[in-house]
Order: sequence, then C-alpha cells, then structure tokens
Amino acid sequence: MERTFAMVKPDGFSRGLVGEVIRRFEGKGLKIVALELKEFSPELAEEFYAEHKGKGFFSSLVELITAGPSVGMVLEGPNAVKIVRTLIGATNPQEAQPGSIRGDFGLELPANIVHASDSQDSFKRESRIFFGKEF
Ligand code: CMP
Repeated sequence: MERTFAMVKPDGFSRGLVGEVIRRFEGKGLKIVALELKEFSPELAEEFYAEHKGKGFFSSLVELITAGPSVGMVLEGPNAVKIVRTLIGATNPQEAQPGSIRGDFGLELPANIVHASDSQDSFKRESRIFFGKEF
C-alpha cells in the first residue's frame, strides 16, 4: 500500500478546516497512519520548502507557514500520492476545480489550505522533516 504526506497549513488551521480536510481524506477511504500538530520555526520552514528558495514568493510562503500551527499527516492507500493530489486540487486556488479542497476553500496564493507530497521521494523527505522520523 502506498503512503503520502499531507498537511493542513496555518491558513487552513486558522479557518477551522482541519476536520473538513481530514473528512475528505477519510471519506475517500485513505487511512491515517500518523497525525500531529506542529508550529514551524523559520528554519524548519526553509528546510521544508528548500526547493522554492530564491523564488519571488519564498518570503511570503515562509511567513504563511510560520504564522500558526499546521497539522501534518501520513496517509495510506492505493496510489495515495496521486489520489491526495487530486483531492486537494491545483496549487493556485483560483485554478483549482470546484470539488477539490483548494477549489472549494482557497482564494489567493500563497494561502491554499493544504500541502501534499508530489512523489514518493518528497513523501519520504517531508514526513521525515515534519515528524522527525522515517515512514
Ligand atoms: P504547496 O503545495 O505547499 O507548495 C509550495 C507552496 O508555495 C504552495 O503550496 C503555495 O502556498 C506557495 N506558492 C506556490 N506558487 C506560488 C506563487 N506563484 N505565489 C505565491 N505563493 C506560491
């Protein structure tokens, strides 16, 4: 069975969308393997989003992700990476389809409610950074 990492970001947390996001993942049939609430330090945020360093939106992204708690989770199910990416929708909430989490609840980048790993490599890396252990 495949695993992936997903995270309700501080904008989603502050709007009270943790339960809604988890309901959609569980409703689809995915199993929660790990779940934790965590506040990102600027250092941890820079490590987590290292691939975006140097981009114009990087400082606003770090500001967003350090603004309050995030809720990270490891999810398990067949083809979990692809299924979760479909459930959350396109990165830009203005382009995300209605019916997806970002399409239903997001309005403007960088605030797009959730993050999810885009590959098995990023799942390994991101879950290690968030939980401080291997999955
Ligand atoms: P996420 O899936 O967590 O991965 C990187 C994040 O950077 C993304 O969601 C957005 O929050 C943010 N982001 C990506 N592209 C842009 C952009 N063009 N402008 C502002 N923020 C962005």
